[in-house]
Amino acid sequence: MSEGLRRPIGVAVLGMGNVGTEVVRILIEKAVDLHARVGAPIELRGVAVRDVARDRAVDPALITGDAASLVTSDDVDIVVELIGGIDVPRALIASALEHGKSVVTANKALLADYTGELAGIAATAKVDLYFEAAVAGAIPVIRPLMQSLAGDTVQRVAGIVNGTTNFILSAMDADGDDYAVVLAEAGRLGYAEADPTADVEGYDAASKAAILASLAFHTRVTAGDVYREGISTITADDLASAKSLNCTIKLLAICERIADSVGKERISARVYPTLVPKTHPLAAVNGAFNAVVVEAENAGRLMFYGQGAGGAPTASAVLGDLVMAARNKVHGGRGPLESTYASLSIAPMGDVLTRYYVSMRVADRPGVLSAVAAEFSKRDVSIATVRQEGADENARLIVVTHRAPDAALAQTVDALKELDAVAEVASVLRLEGTDE
Ligand code: NDP
Ligand code: HSE
Repeated sequence: MSEGLRRPIGVAVLGMGNVGTEVVRILIEKAVDLHARVGAPIELRGVAVRDVARDRAVDPALITGDAASLVTSDDVDIVVELIGGIDVPRALIASALEHGKSVVTANKALLADYTGELAGIAATAKVDLYFEAAVAGAIPVIRPLMQSLAGDTVQRVAGIVNGTTNFILSAMDADGDDYAVVLAEAGRLGYAEADPTADVEGYDAASKAAILASLAFHTRVTAGDVYREGISTITADDLASAKSLNCTIKLLAICERIADSVGKERISARVYPTLVPKTHPLAAVNGAFNAVVVEAENAGRLMFYGQGAGGAPTASAVLGDLVMAARNKVHGGRGPLESTYASLSIAPMGDVLTRYYVSMRVADRPGVLSAVAAEFSKRDVSIATVRQEGADENARLIVVTHRAPDAALAQTVDALKELDAVAEVASVLRLEGTDE
C-alpha cells in the first residue's frame, strides 16, 4: 500500500481545557506534517467535554458530552485523555484499552496509583499506553528512562517537577516576599490553581516521583510510597537564611537506590523543600521551569530542563506520544511495556541519610550552645556548621549537620523543642546537593 492510501488514524480527545485545547489546535494546524510523519492522515473523530454548550476552537459537530461512547467508537484508534482526576479517566482509559484503542494521557495523579492496572489491560489488548506529558510537561524524561537508559542502571533521579511551587520559591528568593503574598501573585498570573493544595503540599510532585521511581528502578512505586512535605510552611526568613548559607530553597523530588544495614538494595522516593547550594545546577532553575537530573551507572549524570507545565508545552509531549502510537497503528509493533521485575522494597524515610538545617530562637547566654550540641551528639549526629544571628533574648542559632539517618535527625529536633535553652525551633529543612 502506498503512503497516500493508508487508512486514516482516528483520534478522540477527552477534555478541551488548558492542554486539550492546544492538542486540538496542533492536530488541526499541523495535519499535513503529522500525516507525513505518521504515514497516514490523523483525523479528529471527536472531543469530549463536560460543558457542550461552550464555544470551542473546533468544529461543533465534533464536540460531545458522551466520552464513554466516544472511546469505544469503531472509527477511533487512539484516545487522548486530558480530563484529569481519577475515577472518570480511569474508567474511560480502561474501556478504551479494552476496545483495542491505544491511549495517551498526561494524568500523573491517575498513573501514580493505577499504571499497573492500566498497563495490564494495555498488554492484554496489545495496544500502547503512553504518558510522556505526565512528568515535567514538555521535557522528555519518561522516554529516556524507559528506552534510552533501558540498558543502564539508574542510581538516582532528582529534580524540580512542579512548576507552581518553583515559581513561588523563586519569587520568594528574588523579592524577599512571604509565602502568602507570592501564592496570591501565582494565582493572579494563572500558575496556581484556585485550590493550590495538590501543588503546594507536594502531592503533584509525589505523583510524579512515583512514576519516575517506577520507571527508573523497574519497581512498582505508588504515590503512597513517596514521603512528602510541601512548601506552605516556608517563610521569607527561611529564604534569607538560605541566602546567608549561599543556598536557595527548592521543592525536590528525589528517587534513589539505597542500601540497608546488610547492603541489601532498596529504594527511596521523597518530596520536600530542600536547601540547595547556589552552585548546584538545580538552584538556577527558576520560575515555572522544571529540571530533572538522572544519574546512571554508565551514562553518568544527565540533566533535562524546560517547561514543565502549560498548555502548549504539555501538548508537545502529548503529540509526541500520539505520533508514536499512530506510527505503531500504521506500521505495526508496540512501544515498550512497563517493567517491574526488580520489585525492590521501599526504604522508610527514617533510614534515609539526609542533612538538616535547624534554625532556633535561643537566649544568648552561657551553656545554650553546649546544651543544643549535646542533643545532636546523643544521637550520633555530627554538626557541620553553627551560626548565630542577633543577641540577648532574641538570638537565632542555625545548625547545619552532616549526613545522618533522618530518624536520628528528627528525634534530635523533637528533643531540641523540649530544651529550656531553646525558645522555639523556628525552621527545619533538609539540605541536598552536597557531598558531606
Ligand atoms: P483543565 O481543567 O483545564 O481541563 C479539563 C477538561 O476536561 C475540560 O475541558 C473539561 O470540560 C473536561 N472534562 C472534565 N470532566 C469531564 C468529563 N466527565 N467528561 C468529559 N470531559 C470532562 O485541565 P488541564 O488541561 O490543565 O489538565 C488536563 C490533564 O493534563 C490533567 O490530568 C493534568 O494533571 C495534566 N497536566 C496538565 C498540565 C498543565 O500545565 N495544565 C501539565 C501536565 C499535565 P469543560 O471544558 O467543559 O469544563
Ligand atoms: N500543576 C503542575 C505544576 C502542572 O505546577 O507543575 C504540571 O504538571
